[in-house]
Amino acid sequence: MIIEPRMRGFICTTAHPKGCEQNVKNQIAYVTSKGKIEGAKKVLVIGASTGFGLASRITSAFGCDAATIGVFFEKPPSEGKTASPGWYNSAAFENEANKAGLYAKSINGDAFSNEIKQQTLDLIKADLGQIDLVIYSLASPVRTHPVTGITHRSVLKPIGKTFTNNTVDFHSGKVSEISIEPCSGDDIENTVIVMGGEDWEMWMTALKNADLLAPGATTVSYSYIGSSLTEAVYRKGTIGRAKDDMEATAFKITDSLKAISGKAYVSVNKALVTQASSAIPVIPLYISLLYKIMKAEGSHEGCIEQMQRLFQERLYTNGAVPVDEQGRIRVDDWEMDANVQAQVAKLWLEATTENLSEIGDLEGYRKDFYNLFGFGFEGVDYNLDTNELVQISSIS
Ligand code: NAI
Repeated sequence: MIIEPRMRGFICTTAHPKGCEQNVKNQIAYVTSKGKIEGAKKVLVIGASTGFGLASRITSAFGCDAATIGVFFEKPPSEGKTASPGWYNSAAFENEANKAGLYAKSINGDAFSNEIKQQTLDLIKADLGQIDLVIYSLASPVRTHPVTGITHRSVLKPIGKTFTNNTVDFHSGKVSEISIEPCSGDDIENTVIVMGGEDWEMWMTALKNADLLAPGATTVSYSYIGSSLTEAVYRKGTIGRAKDDMEATAFKITDSLKAISGKAYVSVNKALVTQASSAIPVIPLYISLLYKIMKAEGSHEGCIEQMQRLFQERLYTNGAVPVDEQGRIRVDDWEMDANVQAQVAKLWLEATTENLSEIGDLEGYRKDFYNLFGFGFEGVDYNLDTNELVQISSIS
């Protein structure tokens, strides 16, 4: 079929298998160009199909020559209906890994469930023995709790008072004021249950109890801090509470891994266009301005540049892992640079529908958004009839 982007609200409901393949190949080429990393050799990535998780898997495999198991929740294709992009990304990743002689298997299902955890443990036991790096990169709006069976929904809201600020509809380029009502009822608790540290801890406990963690095993999950412009809706909002919980969980996991000298880290990453971040109000305007400044400064990175730097310059340096005063790894350092932030804050006050495509990088935002779904890649002929029924070799 001829596959074109089809938008519903902020989401694209189609994905292009060849474009997703190109995306994966480009990321592999980047990692390969940066040389080998003496790092983990057996890696489990939870949330491995898009965004930071996919980039972590690619860096593990093509930077460290690691065997990887990827867990994700993606929609397979059916006749006349494309898969979700993470499905095609994972199919392409496995093909490339297999060609390079690297072990790569994937599990598609709800990582919050006991069943998927057990399936993953069984696969590790059968194929890899023990894991030396676990990346936890889930981003989900819902979680059905495996003990209570209750389905919790996260919300992206400020706490305490209404937050009013500018945002942009990145499709139309319209800058407008938005007011977000504060959270209420169990919103904070639910958001912490979905996006906080409990599930990460459950994974690590299950792996440890099954003796599937190698001595010195490391686990990393991802967090965000960001600027004062977005803090009401992000770091000081409901999602920020979940990130606080995630960061506190790192210490608990490190304690629980003492016997094997294991270590849990949170890495604070840069704001990037992913399916998760485009759903957060105000963030797209911030990202458009940030991209413009960081590209001009030469310090802009995408997911793959961030994860390659995390591995090469933070996790596997031969020395201690550098952390901030709260024990967090920081690869958001270039975003948080005072000069970059001051420039973004200045542009923030000036941004209008009329001038945003000039003072901000609206084009870059849109390009990254389309790229998430496999559209807009050089080297892909989008007019060609394309097979949508691409399978993932370890799943089909
Ligand atoms: P993403 O939406 O690109 O990826 C989410 C991944 O989780 C996908 O592989 C998806 O299949 C998987 N997933 C979702 N629900 C699942 C479930 N129930 N079971 C199994 N897999 C499931 O998200 P992104 O942006 O890469 O986020 C990953 C982490 O990075 C999150 O913790 C996020 O808060 C954090 N982060 C994101 C930033 C951004 O600007 N995008 C900045 C800093 C941190």
